[in-house]
Amino acid sequence: MKQYKWGILAPGKMSAKFTNGLKLLGNVELYAVGSRDTVRAEKFAREHGFKKYYGSYEDLATDPEVEIVYIASPHSHHYEHTMLCLKNRKAVICEKAFALNSREVEMMISEAVMQKVFLMEALWPPFQPMYKKTKEIHGSAVAGKVLHMNARFSFQPPFDPADRKFNPELGGGSLLDIGIYPVIDVLTFMGVPSEVIACASFAETGAEQSISVIFRYEDGRMANIYSSFMTNAGIGCDILCEKGNLFFSRKRDMSQNLLLAIHGKEAEEYSMIPEGMGYHFEAVEVMKCLEEGRIESDIVPHSFSLNLINTLDRIRKSAGIVFPGRD
Ligand SMILES: NC(=O)c1ccc[n+]([C@@H]2O[C@H](COP(=O)([O-])OP(=O)(O)OC[C@H]3O[C@@H](n4cnc5c(N)ncnc54)[C@H](OP(=O)(O)O)[C@@H]3O)[C@@H](O)[C@H]2O)c1
Repeated sequence: MKQYKWGILAPGKMSAKFTNGLKLLGNVELYAVGSRDTVRAEKFAREHGFKKYYGSYEDLATDPEVEIVYIASPHSHHYEHTMLCLKNRKAVICEKAFALNSREVEMMISEAVMQKVFLMEALWPPFQPMYKKTKEIHGSAVAGKVLHMNARFSFQPPFDPADRKFNPELGGGSLLDIGIYPVIDVLTFMGVPSEVIACASFAETGAEQSISVIFRYEDGRMANIYSSFMTNAGIGCDILCEKGNLFFSRKRDMSQNLLLAIHGKEAEEYSMIPEGMGYHFEAVEVMKCLEEGRIESDIVPHSFSLNLINTLDRIRKSAGIVFPGRD
């Protein structure tokens, strides 16, 4: 079995979780870490067992041995760091939000296509067994057509103006951090809306801290989306269909639950806790695509990432969310 040499770009909190997922896989070599700071790179490399570490992202991207780079810098830097790796012909899996706006994502995808190099947005939900089950039920005649959705993600992080979540320069705000998940849910189960209406409230740093969104479809159907750093609503989505309802939820430890309540029938409940918080499924997909010589995944194709960022742009425009110098 071929061993793929992985590089980690930006060893923050998410990189630690993703690396724990990589450790579950037999065809992964934990090869190199790149940080803006050599001491941080060395610490992460030692803690997780990487062979090499670099005090710059350029050094990681130009190491000829690195084959796949996982990028988990703040959203504001995904475009720059993805381009750096693609130009050095590394396969890239980059965290959500893929970039700050559609233009940046279009350029990232064009570069991957031009270089004939693999690129995928690191979206957790589509790879999860419970999400796949929900899609399977949705695709069958069991529940019937989706008529409405309520989807939400909120939690209460301590306010810290220096944290990327509250810093507009770093793409801060609940929308790209957690609101992206209910947006993914609605795009997956109802498609791209014809109309988007959104209202937001803002923290003293200028970053959005709470947002309510309505999607409207040509045929009159609607969906409600909510994300916030002000409340603790958890993570969930209600899919209200002709013949019954599906209630999907997950906790912050990534345990997942699906309740299928078909009218007139006893409700069925499914639940699971994925190993390694479920992040390894994305890495498996990257390496499977490389084995097959592909530059994009069928599970998160470039077209889905484009629909997602276009929709996020429309939401931001409606709610008046601006990232300084980046629109
Ligand atoms: N898929 C998921 O479930 C999930 C969950 C959480 C977060 N994420 C995503 O992962 C990304 C990182 O989130 P995180 O929570 O890991 O953030 P974090 O802990 O703040 O780490 C971000 C890292 O980026 C690097 N960095 C580069 N330029 C920076 C700058 N100007 N300011 C601050 N840090 C900078 C830093 O590493 P060095 O300076 O050492 O290079 C830092 O450790 C975000 O895009 C987020 O949306 C995804």
